[in-house]
Amino acid sequence: MICLGIEATAHTFGCGIVSDKKGKCEILANEKDTYVTKEGGMIPRELAEHHQAKAKEVIENALRTANLEIKNIDLVSFSQGPGMGPALQAGATAARALALSNDKPLLGVNHCVAHVEIGKTLTGSKDPIVVYVSGANTQIIGYEKGRYRVYGETLDIGIGNLLDTVGRKMGMGFPAGPTLDKMYFEGKKYIELPYTVKGMDLAFAGLQTATVQKIGKEKDEDLAYSLLHNAFAMVTEVSERALAHTEKTEILLTGGVAASKALREMLEKMCKGRKAKFFVPPFGVCVDNAAMIAWLGIVEFKAGNRMKIEDSTIDQRQRTDSINVNWI
Ligand code: FE2
Repeated sequence: MICLGIEATAHTFGCGIVSDKKGKCEILANEKDTYVTKEGGMIPRELAEHHQAKAKEVIENALRTANLEIKNIDLVSFSQGPGMGPALQAGATAARALALSNDKPLLGVNHCVAHVEIGKTLTGSKDPIVVYVSGANTQIIGYEKGRYRVYGETLDIGIGNLLDTVGRKMGMGFPAGPTLDKMYFEGKKYIELPYTVKGMDLAFAGLQTATVQKIGKEKDEDLAYSLLHNAFAMVTEVSERALAHTEKTEILLTGGVAASKALREMLEKMCKGRKAKFFVPPFGVCVDNAAMIAWLGIVEFKAGNRMKIEDSTIDQRQRTDSINVNWI
């Protein structure tokens, strides 16, 4: 079957078209338009206006790229949550309009579970501990008894937001991750900064405050080195404990922060020590994208999942572990 998926949880409005015709996930289109600001963060109202204005163009581009017409589409899926309300609303409205006006089935899916499922199918990973690190999200996830359990997660801000905030204070643009990552390898001196792991959970706000207070007093390179060292070691520590407790033997790294060479090196080293396999999907599906939403649409539809229009309301705080995983 062929599914058209719509992603709109934060800054990106995306439309992806995916087929499973040859027995595997084939991405026919993965188009997007990202809302950017000259300075400062996202303004929810402007974000929604951006998504509404771009929806038609992005969907048309995806159909053109896939060389398909809407009549060739078997299913429309969209990210139902979690995310920013106005953004989710814009995506859901576009998906509902498309499904209703063309008489196609509609399926709302979970954004985080979509990252996991497309990562698994594209890397060949079977039963991983998933390290999902992005702007707003930081979760260590694994499948157990019908759910994707969240073994550990951030108690305050997402790790990507930590990097962007510190980067902005150092005068960098958005996203700051790539620049900080380069500086990590140039830093020479470790500066004492908070390292906050509570059980299996993580907290980054204290680390952020302490780093920002040291800007101008220490070399930026040394600060970047120390910041990334602590933040990524925290993630690696919890991931390793998840592997040990669950006896799983694979790590799947995904989310926008998966682009970090420093984080990859650290996780890879840990995996080597434990003889675990280490997987990272292509970057285009690590960041927020709509192909993953389309793929999860297919996976769920084939498992028999259906959704009535009246049940397609968005859920800003939809939890990864609230989804009944009936396809494994
Ligand atoms: Fe995401």
